[in-house]
Amino acid sequence: MVNVAILGFGKIGSGTFEFLQNNAEIIERKTGESFCVKHILDIRDFSGTPYADKVTNDIDKIISDPEVTIVAEMMGGSHPAYEYTMKALSAGKHVVSSNKEVVANFGDELLRVAEENGVRYLFEASVGGGIPIIRPMTNDLSGNDITEINGILNGTTNYILTQMFDYKKSFEDALAEAQEKGYAELDPTDDVMGKDACRKISILSALAYGISIHPDNVYTEGITKITADNVRHAAMMGASIKLIGHAEKNEDGSVFLMVSPLVVNGTSPLAHVSDVFNGIMVHGEPLGDVFFYGRGAGKEPTASAVVADIIDIVVHDGENLKATRWEKAPAEKIASIKDFRVSAYLYLDGVCCEKKVSDIFGEITLIEIADGKAAIVTAKMPEAELDAKIEQAKTAGITTLSKIRVL
Ligand code: HSE
Repeated sequence: MVNVAILGFGKIGSGTFEFLQNNAEIIERKTGESFCVKHILDIRDFSGTPYADKVTNDIDKIISDPEVTIVAEMMGGSHPAYEYTMKALSAGKHVVSSNKEVVANFGDELLRVAEENGVRYLFEASVGGGIPIIRPMTNDLSGNDITEINGILNGTTNYILTQMFDYKKSFEDALAEAQEKGYAELDPTDDVMGKDACRKISILSALAYGISIHPDNVYTEGITKITADNVRHAAMMGASIKLIGHAEKNEDGSVFLMVSPLVVNGTSPLAHVSDVFNGIMVHGEPLGDVFFYGRGAGKEPTASAVVADIIDIVVHDGENLKATRWEKAPAEKIASIKDFRVSAYLYLDGVCCEKKVSDIFGEITLIEIADGKAAIVTAKMPEAELDAKIEQAKTAGITTLSKIRVL
């Protein structure tokens, strides 16, 4: 019998409890073990529910219970989740987590402490919901030189953008629906401003490059400025607009991370990832492209990934596995967006003719020109150069209403 403690009995915590119960037979067949959720840590009152006798608000009761070997942290937020994780690992308990904030902010330290204590810290559920992506990045792709990652990593914003594109819904209505369906964070600002996706790309790049870039040091832009005109122009180009977490390795070994809405050409599988689904394209050398797709948020998919980690721990119990590790990135390894070479869709106001626009921006593709406004796509250039051209256009009376980078 494997005794598990669940920290945080919200959607994911209760989903994991139900998953372990409902699929007990399958899990026992695969692992040769039965599982018992012995404790549930939560500050809310669960009296009168079937879980009442398991619920505690005392972390030390869990830490001091020698029968508990696996702690599943699904509390959300950095604190006290980080402190409780540290306590559990230091007490020789394995920890599995869906908490991307803790993994992105403190993963380097927690992985080190896990290794020092001969236990495992696993976080498959922290990125991509039910999509297996952490384990493939850790194991299957680890011999490749990962040159680029592009991921739709936030289900809430993808749901919103899909509703705006396919059903012409307003941003507000689509967000309310995503919240109702349980995809959004407690504070949906983290979703729509790109912070949630930022934590996830930070975790994926740490696995790919062995160095972690703190989310505070990642250029992050959300989806709140996307307009109906932008959606229309993207459709005219046969493209979509997606919130993408982007990571790439430069020739000098520095790593560039960004979260930004990007115009995604219809020929890319990423353009067809709809609703709450996530999609992650990883380019490895010599492998080439590999694409991961599935439900990126919600109770059951995320619980599936948490249970996958619990099973992993049990089936590899007693093996001397080499731990995953990463270090904090030194400043010289963090590339700036100013040097990032980008092509952009621009929506310009104050335009008299195409020539005036191309005089400033150079080679362009014209999407639409009407009523003194022009939608164009620029050639690739460093971001700093593009911004200088936007300023130059402003001086010439051409205002940039929208700038959306192109993947
Ligand atoms: N709020 C997150 C999302 C939950 O929408 O993707 C899954 O991490």
